[in-house]
Amino acid sequence: MTICTIEDLRIKAQKRVPRMFYDYADSGSWTESTYRENSSDFQKIKLRQRIAVDMTDRSTALPMIGQQTTMPVALAPTGLTGMQHPDGEIKAALAAEKFGVPFTLSTMSICSIEDVAANTTEPFWFQMYVMKDKVFAENLINRAKAAGCSALVLTLDLQIIGQRHKDVRNGLSTNPLLTLKGWGQILTRPAWCLSMLSTRRHSFGNIVGHAEGVSDVNSLFSWTAEQFDPALNWSDVQWIKARWGGKLILKGILDVEDAKLAVQAGADAIIVSNHGGRQLDGAPSTISQLGAIVDAVGDQIEVHMDGGIRSGQDVLKAIALGAKGTYIGRPFLYGLGAMGEKGVTTALEIIHKELDLTMAFCGERQLSNINRSHLLPGTF
Ligand code: FNR
Repeated sequence: MTICTIEDLRIKAQKRVPRMFYDYADSGSWTESTYRENSSDFQKIKLRQRIAVDMTDRSTALPMIGQQTTMPVALAPTGLTGMQHPDGEIKAALAAEKFGVPFTLSTMSICSIEDVAANTTEPFWFQMYVMKDKVFAENLINRAKAAGCSALVLTLDLQIIGQRHKDVRNGLSTNPLLTLKGWGQILTRPAWCLSMLSTRRHSFGNIVGHAEGVSDVNSLFSWTAEQFDPALNWSDVQWIKARWGGKLILKGILDVEDAKLAVQAGADAIIVSNHGGRQLDGAPSTISQLGAIVDAVGDQIEVHMDGGIRSGQDVLKAIALGAKGTYIGRPFLYGLGAMGEKGVTTALEIIHKELDLTMAFCGERQLSNINRSHLLPGTF
């Protein structure tokens, strides 16, 4: 199959990755309406096509929190990435650094902070949650510092975990490797199975051997389930900010009032995000909220967004509405699941090419010139 789109990568990944891990990536919570609308709401926004404008020497470069990028499209933090492909986080980080976009490592990754740092040359970003175990949290921050991570992404929309029916049905909410069904799904993907033998990294690398009492898969699952803190509040942000001391990005903002509180908390950037439709099903799509949040706080803080981006046109629309950066989650996971590092590079190439051409069709040569005037009035 010739790969032309992110959808092509998705289809290829679905054929290669065992169902429980493919579904883990390609699912949302409850009815998945927010998950779907994250993408479909982009389609409602129309671009203004211009003609007969000189379109030579174009650039999609735009910095995110002061860091130069080839295009403002970072890889979002995603858990269990190393189950899409062996050493998936390292492969994705390598693809990102070669392409010139930021990579964000999730706390819930298979490869550890140290694994990724040892196998890459550029500093990456690290994502963490507010966890109950403060000793573990402080150690994690120190490990990210020691690894040279250049930004901390603090995710604030997961103090309780959204219910994803596909994970429950696949047994992924318990220990997947112990269920018969899990083994069945894994064994029907022999190429994936064989490839997984090439690595010894099959568990949460940031946690096993680091959190107290977590030594095997069973203790890991019970520890993880208890760690997300339902009591999370803005004072936790200050606790983490004080210990981190570097660039701080707050992820999971979907409401103007929360965006204002994030500004007060002294963050460097916020990510307008609904966790890719994996938390509150029924919440609005992120692209539908972006403009109002930019209007409210865009002059005080860098506003980024994620959720539903599947093309360069989507990136351009987000930038036009005032985002200074975007993130992709599933698009790079599909690439990784389909073809490893090459697949992540392909995902980035597809989005970059589409972004560049879309910008040109809109009559601009620099992405930094893109604004709401490039969108058709009444469609955003
Ligand atoms: C995520 N997301 C996520 N976010 C986070 O802060 N920490 C995490 O560990 C994870 N894990 C995770 C796993 C998987 C499989 C997915 C799909 C997503 C959310 C992620 O960072 C991002 O907000 C969304 O993926 C963006 O939406 P798209 O690009 O996937 O549509």
